[in-house]
Amino acid sequence: MATSIWKRYFAESLERGQMERKWSSGGMFLLAAVGSAVGLANIWRFPYVVGANGGGAFVLIYILSMFLVTIPLLVAEIVLGRRGGGDPVITMRRLAEESGLSRAWGNYGWLSLFTTLTILSFYSVISGWSLAYIPKMLTGLAHENVEGIQREYALLTAGPGAMIFWHGVFMVFTTAIIARGLNRGIESAVKFLMPVLFLTLIVLLIYGFLVGDMGAAMRYLFTPDFSKLNFQVVLMAVGSSFFSASVGVGAMMTYGAYLPRSVSVWGVATGTVVIDLAVSLVAGLAIFSIIFANGLDADSGPGLMFLALPLAFSQISGGILVGLLFFVLLFLAALTSAFSLLEPTVLWLNDRYRVSRAAAAWGVGFVVWLAGFATVFSFNLWKDVHLLSVIPRFHDSSILDLLDFLVTNLLLPAGGLALAIFTGWRVARSTLREELGAGTGSIVFALWIRLVRYLVPVALLALFVGNLV
Ligand code: PHE
Repeated sequence: MATSIWKRYFAESLERGQMERKWSSGGMFLLAAVGSAVGLANIWRFPYVVGANGGGAFVLIYILSMFLVTIPLLVAEIVLGRRGGGDPVITMRRLAEESGLSRAWGNYGWLSLFTTLTILSFYSVISGWSLAYIPKMLTGLAHENVEGIQREYALLTAGPGAMIFWHGVFMVFTTAIIARGLNRGIESAVKFLMPVLFLTLIVLLIYGFLVGDMGAAMRYLFTPDFSKLNFQVVLMAVGSSFFSASVGVGAMMTYGAYLPRSVSVWGVATGTVVIDLAVSLVAGLAIFSIIFANGLDADSGPGLMFLALPLAFSQISGGILVGLLFFVLLFLAALTSAFSLLEPTVLWLNDRYRVSRAAAAWGVGFVVWLAGFATVFSFNLWKDVHLLSVIPRFHDSSILDLLDFLVTNLLLPAGGLALAIFTGWRVARSTLREELGAGTGSIVFALWIRLVRYLVPVALLALFVGNLV
């Protein structure tokens, strides 16, 4: 009896994986793509990176990069995905074949699968923290003093147990939804979760207006102090804008494979990036208005969300409820991003080896959970393990620091660069025009292709080289 239930579960999900190959509408793609884009990078990372890089000037470069570099690359990625119609490996092979290019371009697909899973392995650990903070807020974290809050934060990371647990819970949520397939899984989830996410964000913004110091937050985010600007800050802004929009790693390529032909790629790509940017700014305003109203420091690094915020909540009325909302928001944002990190590999297994979606999702999800232990141990058991200590710049780097460096400074720019060169210089122009519905007189197309040929590769190359030396 039990075995037949499982058999049916896997058999049905094999069929579903092969049948469900399109988003039910362009709006659904947009919801899923925004879900992918809006994540830890917007709510946890953006505010503290702005804080560490001097505020307004960083924000200005970030916005410019979104429009001039990130949108063009996202358009390219979605176009390639829709044209190829499969996972990144198959998609790149098909496109290379169609344009008479070397099959070696298919290797981008392997880079993509490796990068998305590596990101997911540490992304899920940090996302697990947001889950861990939900019961913490409920059981009175917001009543603690500074020492109490620091103690709780230290406790979470001191041993591997709690982090492995919450990272596991997060992976179970992610995997269970991916196992259900495109329409019944990802679509049903984002249809419900994204409105909740936006509503939560608006409530927090209003709260920031009422209780926080919104004026100070505005000044901080939008008054550029150019003396704070240097090459490193620019690189940081450009790199962050890619990561935040989920561009370059093949996640959006996979989502693009499901995009119906009738939908305009320009529209959905621009929509995704603009909403992603807006969410970062709103989250920044909400967080900084509370931080400043409590006389706390904007420049408090990764602990901004987990140390400074709970402290701020301990001092204001309604703190517990609002604090809770913050961590729910962080969790939802992270969850809908995680979908797009697991999907490429699951699609690949489903297509290439006819593994059912459910089996592929649970199998890969389990491997990612195990891989995440490396990140978990970086905080405790392996805190003093510095694998690359012979290289001066990595002298004190933990495994998580190295993973982060590998992804943000090497894999992501390398993948993006490959996509830009492939699209701008190699793929037949007629293919691109056809996918984008652009005639030879289209000014938008002319502008886009120039950005993809020149500015995008230069920016990515600068990122790659600049971060190495
Ligand atoms: N964009 C996500 C975030 O902002 C992270 C992500 C990167 C997701 C790359 C998918 C692909 O947190």
